[in-house]
Amino acid sequence: MKRPLLFFIPFAALLLALAWLASPHAPAAAQMQPTPASSRLAPWPTVYPPTQADLGAQEYYQRCMVCHGDRGQGLTDEWRGALDPADQNCWQSGCHGGKLGYDGFEFPRFAPRVIGGGALARFVTAQDLFDFLEAEMPFQAPGSLSDEIYWQLSAYLLRENGFLTGSPALSAATAAQVRLERPQSAPFVPWWPIALGSLALSAIAIGLFLRRR
Ligand code: HEC
Repeated sequence: MKRPLLFFIPFAALLLALAWLASPHAPAAAQMQPTPASSRLAPWPTVYPPTQADLGAQEYYQRCMVCHGDRGQGLTDEWRGALDPADQNCWQSGCHGGKLGYDGFEFPRFAPRVIGGGALARFVTAQDLFDFLEAEMPFQAPGSLSDEIYWQLSAYLLRENGFLTGSPALSAATAAQVRLERPQSAPFVPWWPIALGSLALSAIAIGLFLRRR
């Protein structure tokens, strides 16, 4: 009476485990944009007609990429490695370490990731992101850009992080309503391993019931 059940349980567990492994339960770990050009330092392609976020991509390329990386990965060793060898040691004396030259500036050892991997988690709405960028970025000259450019940069970062589809354009009138909620961060529950598991369990229950009689 008990023996078939003992065989059945590991079998069902194995089936479940296999189903779980085979399912795409790690949803698009990092949905990074492929580097647009063969050289990572080549200019962003121009898109016509450009959306607000496309314009933001151009601004990002010119003003933010050097610190935050060509894929928004932050100032990683890997990204510094893509720069001209003379520019790779950011903290060397005379660069952004001691003995700063005219209009030189010092900055922390690291600039954070701004695209992918849970970036921008501290911002609740697009307005929060805009306010931060205007108050703090670019690091060496906060507030130095026009509102229009800060909106473009905000739209770009939101789009790249999967927050915004593009319309309406971001502005002081819309941004407080745009929440930085990440649909793909909801735990992904594949339906079919659950269905299979339930089937296996029902089969066991029915088998047991029939044997009892
Ligand atoms: C000189 C290097 C440098 C440049 C250029 C720069 N940043 Fe930063 N950025 C930093 C550093 C360092 C921090 C972390 C310090 C902080 O949060 O105030 C940071 C923080 C940020 C953050 C907050 C990330 C988070 O989740 O905490 C965002 C967003 C950001 N930068 C966007 C931009 C944008 C957009 C530009 C271009 C206009 C830009 N940065 C230019 C160095 C830089």
